[in-house]
Amino acid sequence: MNKSAASPAELQTNHKPDRKLTSVLLGRKADVPPVWLMRQAGRHLPEYRELRSRNSSFLDFCYAPAAAAEATLQPTRRYDIDAAIIFSDILVIPHALGRKVWFVEGEGPRLEPLTNGEDVRALDLSRLETRLGPVYEAIDRVRGALEPSRALIGFAGAPWTLATYMIQGKGGDRVKARAFAYANPEVLDALLATLADAVGDHLAAQVRAGADVVQIFESWAEDVPEAAFQRWVIQPIARAVRRFKVHCPETPVIGFPRGASHRARAFVQGTGVNAVGMDIGADLAACRDAVGAGVALQGNLDPIVLAAGGRALDEAVDTILHAARSGPHVFNLGHGVIPATPISHVERLVARVKAGS
Ligand code: CP3
Repeated sequence: MNKSAASPAELQTNHKPDRKLTSVLLGRKADVPPVWLMRQAGRHLPEYRELRSRNSSFLDFCYAPAAAAEATLQPTRRYDIDAAIIFSDILVIPHALGRKVWFVEGEGPRLEPLTNGEDVRALDLSRLETRLGPVYEAIDRVRGALEPSRALIGFAGAPWTLATYMIQGKGGDRVKARAFAYANPEVLDALLATLADAVGDHLAAQVRAGADVVQIFESWAEDVPEAAFQRWVIQPIARAVRRFKVHCPETPVIGFPRGASHRARAFVQGTGVNAVGMDIGADLAACRDAVGAGVALQGNLDPIVLAAGGRALDEAVDTILHAARSGPHVFNLGHGVIPATPISHVERLVARVKAGS
């Protein structure tokens, strides 16, 4: 199929101006910022742990539309949040391209390591959307059940982050991935290009299924050298965003370059994302100056202060509300909710944001 020419009927116009998250991501300031939390669906919720215990493998769980839809909706029943994020994982893309992916209980993801150009040429983009059909079915179910005022977020991992997992074969450090990148630059470029196309297609398919907003997780931007940042991070994300925007020109894209907030300006300008996620170390005021008044910032509460609660949490929330006041802002964490987080702390955080502190 020719992906570069969308007919008007294919263009997605899911954007609903009455959804606060969408409006802020498109650059409009709100008196009270919209709020959602990365990993809001997950092990801090007893109802998630119960649902998870009924599904043996994590990937099977992600590919079971009824279970994935239920996990997505669980936090929206408890919390006055402005968005749901579809319950899935960034590693469904390598899996759908034909790599072996599995999750070891208590340890995290494992992949059959990608070692050469032959492995890259074997990646099969043509069946991606068929293989990820269950994700789109889950999105369709969630959009049907979610209140119209709440946005539904689709997501994907960024090409470099996906490539690091595919080369390393697991999380942890990125030593093997960087060594591979330096030794085989053309093979890496080909891998990143294929992944960028997969990311663009997967995000567009999520919007077709009912997602209102998409986020690209560049979880491993932190140890990319300055000289490689364009080639490994910016250009592949720009390629994914271009491919996505052909089909979904009005849907906002959040880019989250974790660990690279000091490069926020180059990241936003080079990739074409609408909004940028801030990790816990980011200086919101400096990033606002760097990206300008029209680009929404998202973040950046420390998930550990959310787990700790009390006065430290209240103060940290107020500090962020104050620092982000000068432009469009989406309240969120700087990384995902940790399993030990008490539900009452999340309730307190959301109430404080909604009260405008
Ligand atoms: O609520 C949400 O945020 C939506 C669901 C979501 C998951 N993973 C579910 C999940 C999202 C957005 C992700 C993204 C993701 N997955 C990232 C990017 C964000 C980040 O953390 O930097 C990455 C790197 C992954 C890969 C991944 N998946 C890892 C490293 C792990 C193990 C770590 C852990 O927390 O166990 C996973 C498993 C995973 N993905 C879980 C969940 C809820 C936990 C597994 C379980 O419940 O059994």
